[in-house]
Amino acid sequence: MTTSSERSVWGTRLGFILASAGSAVGLGAIWKFPYMAGTNGGSAFILPYIVLTIAIGFIVLMIEMALGRASRGGAAHALRLFGGPFWGGVGKISVLTGFLILSFYQVIGGWCLNYLFDACIGQGLITDTAMLGSHFDNFVTDGPRAVFMQLAFLTLTAGVIVFGVEKGIERISKLLMPTLFILMLCLIVRGLTLPHAWDGVEFMFKFDPEAFNGSSLLNAMGFAFFSLSLGSGSMMNYGSYLSDKVNLPTSVAWISFLAVLASILGGLMIMPAVFAFSLDPAAGPGLTFVTMPAVFAQLPFGQGFAILFYICLVVAALTSAISILEMSVQFLVDECHVSRRNSIMLNTIALSVLGVVCALSFGALSGYKLAGKTFFDLLDFLTSNVGMPIGAMGIAIVGGYLVWPVMKKQLTLTSPMNDKVLVTTHFLIRFIVPCVIVVIAGAGLFS
Ligand code: ALA
Repeated sequence: MTTSSERSVWGTRLGFILASAGSAVGLGAIWKFPYMAGTNGGSAFILPYIVLTIAIGFIVLMIEMALGRASRGGAAHALRLFGGPFWGGVGKISVLTGFLILSFYQVIGGWCLNYLFDACIGQGLITDTAMLGSHFDNFVTDGPRAVFMQLAFLTLTAGVIVFGVEKGIERISKLLMPTLFILMLCLIVRGLTLPHAWDGVEFMFKFDPEAFNGSSLLNAMGFAFFSLSLGSGSMMNYGSYLSDKVNLPTSVAWISFLAVLASILGGLMIMPAVFAFSLDPAAGPGLTFVTMPAVFAQLPFGQGFAILFYICLVVAALTSAISILEMSVQFLVDECHVSRRNSIMLNTIALSVLGVVCALSFGALSGYKLAGKTFFDLLDFLTSNVGMPIGAMGIAIVGGYLVWPVMKKQLTLTSPMNDKVLVTTHFLIRFIVPCVIVVIAGAGLFS
């Protein structure tokens, strides 16, 4: 990324795609997708997720990045500039949503660091499957350790932000994103050769119309937004750093494809092993962390694989966390005219406080619930299923109705687009995206 007198710009198109894919591909694919699929009936969640990402997520991401590039500003600035103060307010909700995501995301980042540490000291493999759940529970209920790891992860994230986008984000993404994909493929091949592993594949893809309900659809939509980091300000912010020379539709197609691919690979890495080891697919947020030590125990050089895997997982989590923190830091710089250094400091302090509460939701604070959800679960639910859809709605209305000519120019800046494709995109963003959001959110919230 180079810094112009006005705003930073990505160094290369590949750097932009990998950093944006890095923002999209993170814990969502490897931690959230498997357990959401497990708790929402497998294919009843996965199939709508794929359809919603292609039909809705891709279009919203394209418009979100176009708004960012056209305005050269973050969500609040872009939506205010193009839609007026009301939509600027919706942009601020997006920024808050991103900030709240990072409040709980850093906790899972801390779990990854802890498992990396365990793998390094030779505790990353578990052969006795009865021990898998208790190993995880012992860690997450150990408040000081969970909080230490969460704060360590947040400090790492803030550290990369201090070094700036090109030196930090772009370089790390280029090296570790491909490594992560290769490693996942190796782990999938091993997992699929375990006895009963194919039951997991069937659970993921076998069409079962009776399993569909409002809640699985809402969760699939929430996850489609989460996995593409939509409506949370970060993608609009990355779009604002994008050079006019980059072809937006093809870049966004790549980012969406990589995000879906990573989630499917994440599912294929975890679910067959869950069935092979007779674990409960609906075990919840710990599923990946409970399952992986058993998979590593089945591999030759399992400890080496475990170390490499957790390094990649930490980096995948970091690239997503970085994109969110960068957006939140830039928000205070742009909107409150705070220096970048102070903005990093303020954000990090506020996030550490919220992060501690989230980390303790699995232990000392697990008894404190609102609407039956711990603080962690509540933030996860509200951000994916309420905040991100509101942000996406703002993007659809401002981009689709208020400044469509500006969007059209952005989409065709480097090469012309077939008229039919443009008309279809316009139709989807004006009618289908808002309707799907309202219908699914209504069905899910009131079911
Ligand atoms: N899109 C990010 C992830 O999936 C938040 O991890």
